[in-house]
Amino acid sequence: MTSLHANPLRDPQDRRLPRIAGPCGLVLFGVTGDLSRKKLMPAIYDLANRGLLPPGFSLVGFARRDWAHQDFTQIVHDAVKEYARTPFREEVWEQLNQGFRFVSGTFDDDTAFGRLRETVEELDESRGTSGNHAFYLSIPPSYFPDVVGQLKEHGLASPEGGNWRRVVIEKPFGHDLASARQLNAVVSEVFPPESVFRIDHYLGKETVQNILAFRFANAMFEPVWNSNYVDHVQITMAEDIGIGGRAGYYDGIGAARDVIQNHLLQLMALIAMEDPASFEARSLRLEKQKLLSAVTLPQRLDLHSARGQYAAGWQGGEKVIGYLDEADISNTSTTETYAALRLDIENRRWAGVPFYLRTGKRLGRRVTEVAVSFKRAPHLPFTSTATEELGQNALVMRIQPDEGVTLRFGAKVPGTAMELRDVNMDFAYGGAFVESSPEAYERLILDVLLGDPPLFPRHEEVELSWRILDPVVQYWAENGQPEPYASGSWGPDSATEMLARDGRTWRRP
Ligand code: BG6
Repeated sequence: MTSLHANPLRDPQDRRLPRIAGPCGLVLFGVTGDLSRKKLMPAIYDLANRGLLPPGFSLVGFARRDWAHQDFTQIVHDAVKEYARTPFREEVWEQLNQGFRFVSGTFDDDTAFGRLRETVEELDESRGTSGNHAFYLSIPPSYFPDVVGQLKEHGLASPEGGNWRRVVIEKPFGHDLASARQLNAVVSEVFPPESVFRIDHYLGKETVQNILAFRFANAMFEPVWNSNYVDHVQITMAEDIGIGGRAGYYDGIGAARDVIQNHLLQLMALIAMEDPASFEARSLRLEKQKLLSAVTLPQRLDLHSARGQYAAGWQGGEKVIGYLDEADISNTSTTETYAALRLDIENRRWAGVPFYLRTGKRLGRRVTEVAVSFKRAPHLPFTSTATEELGQNALVMRIQPDEGVTLRFGAKVPGTAMELRDVNMDFAYGGAFVESSPEAYERLILDVLLGDPPLFPRHEEVELSWRILDPVVQYWAENGQPEPYASGSWGPDSATEMLARDGRTWRRP
């Protein structure tokens, strides 16, 4: 039995114990961006609040703005107040705040990087960060060469005497295979592969990691997880929001590059890969890589892919404008805001089982899920009227927002006749656990600081994903305008037709 008065830091039952970061700091490039304010700064605070950061943790902001120290502190403060998941506690904030520094400069400014080096050294002295620093590039990839070059020039990229230096990069990892390779060449010239942490924030989600738990910690699902039993798989990432203020990033990128290349293909890899020898990064990445290299595109992209662009419509009781009327979008833009694609996997487990991926903005509702649809029972010893309302068995991993797993199967309707209908058996995170799920960025930032790589895709996975997607976006680029769909709907008709051709329908989540 554990003593009520046990020191939580000494308590062997304390599950936090092995996961507290050692002395270190984080240098953040792109502090004025949306991601920093809405996700990164709040996640850092939440980690501090949960006692997972070292007491001397330091956060250095680097930006062009001519800010004083207080301006930076204010920005972080406001971001934390507005977006942090855990309650604001003055004492946590005060301690964190003492480790804040701000360096003003552009990415090609030599003297600014000189000041950054001095700042980092000063923190090593005053806060005990021990020369351990992560550099988070929350900036457009076009600036990577400047920044990593400067880090190298100023001796910030190479560890000395047992400390560590890591670089964190955010998607987009290029906009096609060639640019992804170039980007990787730039980064890997300065940082060795084990020091590069590529963020795909979907992998930081509890429900995404639960795919691994679900598949590999249980005995009863894996035997049916193959083409003998599975009819097809649908992976849906639907958003109700439009592009908001992100025209500069989104236009010309589009839905497929924005989320299929990374989030959806990573989900597919986790759902379909073989069991890894262990959860070490090397084994996990190897299995994902093997799976991605077995993925094939359909011969006819005209029949097995679909894309759309949201038009005006109604969403949540409000009238919303179409993509072409959004600020800073040209009214001839061909960027897709909806993309659907059939993929196949050429291996023994999955041959003949289509994987349908779809994503879109301004759809009916925000939901991400993976639905595995099973084949019908080979023989139904019931009358055809008894089974006319019976669908296919399905296992649905509800990634967000209603986190959980649903198993759909047929059951007898109470009454004197044998009549069957589909019912759901549900596991809901909220009902099963008292702990609430941390934000993906909390987990991922902590993993960076701990140097724990399994949840970070490596470059080979990025390349394989572009290999899959390049022909699709190229085909679309040569084929004019995407089909408009009304905001608040479930996407363009061509996506419905795409599935109908295979005798299937999209799920209505
Ligand atoms: C990002 C995309 O990677 O994921 C955005 O760039 C998208 O376009 C976002 O809105 C969705 O993330 P989440 O965690 O809200 O599903």
